[in-house]
Amino acid sequence: MSTTQAIVSTDAVMQRAKTENLISPRFYTTDYAAMDRLDVSSLRAEWDAMLAEYEGDNNHDHFKRDEAFASEVKALPPGLHQEFLDFLITSITSEFSGCVLYNEIRKKVDNPDIKQLMTYLTRDESRHANFINYSLRDYDLAVDLQALKASKAYTYFKPKYIFYATYLSEKIGYARYITIYRQLERHPELRFHPIFRWFERWCNDEFRHGESFALIMRANPQLLRGGNVLWIRFFLLAVYATMFVRDHTRPVLHRAMGLEPDEFDYRVFDITTEISKQVFPVSLDTDSPAFRRGLASLVEARIAFDAGAARGGLGGRLQQAGAALKGAWHFAKLYLHPVKKHALPAQIRVAPVW
Ligand SMILES: [Fe+2]
Ligand SMILES: [Fe+2]
Repeated sequence: MSTTQAIVSTDAVMQRAKTENLISPRFYTTDYAAMDRLDVSSLRAEWDAMLAEYEGDNNHDHFKRDEAFASEVKALPPGLHQEFLDFLITSITSEFSGCVLYNEIRKKVDNPDIKQLMTYLTRDESRHANFINYSLRDYDLAVDLQALKASKAYTYFKPKYIFYATYLSEKIGYARYITIYRQLERHPELRFHPIFRWFERWCNDEFRHGESFALIMRANPQLLRGGNVLWIRFFLLAVYATMFVRDHTRPVLHRAMGLEPDEFDYRVFDITTEISKQVFPVSLDTDSPAFRRGLASLVEARIAFDAGAARGGLGGRLQQAGAALKGAWHFAKLYLHPVKKHALPAQIRVAPVW
């Protein structure tokens, strides 16, 4: 666990949801006037086809519990229980972070293409966040979404950074949910909570959200060239490394589903990398042994950092400072690791076939 306090009350839930560190989900603001000026008209046919899919709303009836749900919620071993709660809280926080950002953009732009897209994205993310929150309520816990919106720190990102970051988090979200779903489809005896039965149709929403940002970027190809490629590399690494460190600090959750964190994360990277070739001209070489050693070193630095925090005092702070320096050094080395390059495909849209 990245924080030492056990999640036993709604106060502890809120504290976890509000946590600000390098691997916690963030809330964002952006330049709304620049969002308003976005032009997707060079991809009009693809754009309109995508909006028609949102309009069709094939998941409108999906985020409701069925009759079996309640009977499938069981007591879990304490370690798994805590990691599962942490998983629910970080998932709600990321879903709701998307909801708040998309809703702000929706309110502040007049551009009809962007306004319409943001209306659909807000609809979907609000369903997702609320559906997860019901599962916390089974344990008499909840994230107070309005309080979180008011109290969470907001990070300002230029629109292009919003596109790189949200595109990746939507696609990696798809890859995570479908990998879990497929594993539990093969091993239903390992499905320790009913919420995982919802992941297949759910992840198709995330996939489509990612497609929207892919179209925005491909309609504005200057975002994918020149110095911006260095930013794409940065965001690829930041998103991959964050997930890797977070998953490796809650290994019990994945092992309960029969997934070793390494195996799970590299599978998710493979899927995300394959999809991201639709828009990014570079991808990370996650199969390289040196790259993998670098990620493992980031996990070690994180564990040492948390141990320093738990120890406290001057010794603890020195240990934290040393671990932070080591983490930064390994991140820089990973950033400089050679990337794979590819030409962008003429056919932009990808199907969720995993
Ligand atoms: Fe979502
Ligand atoms: Fe999403």
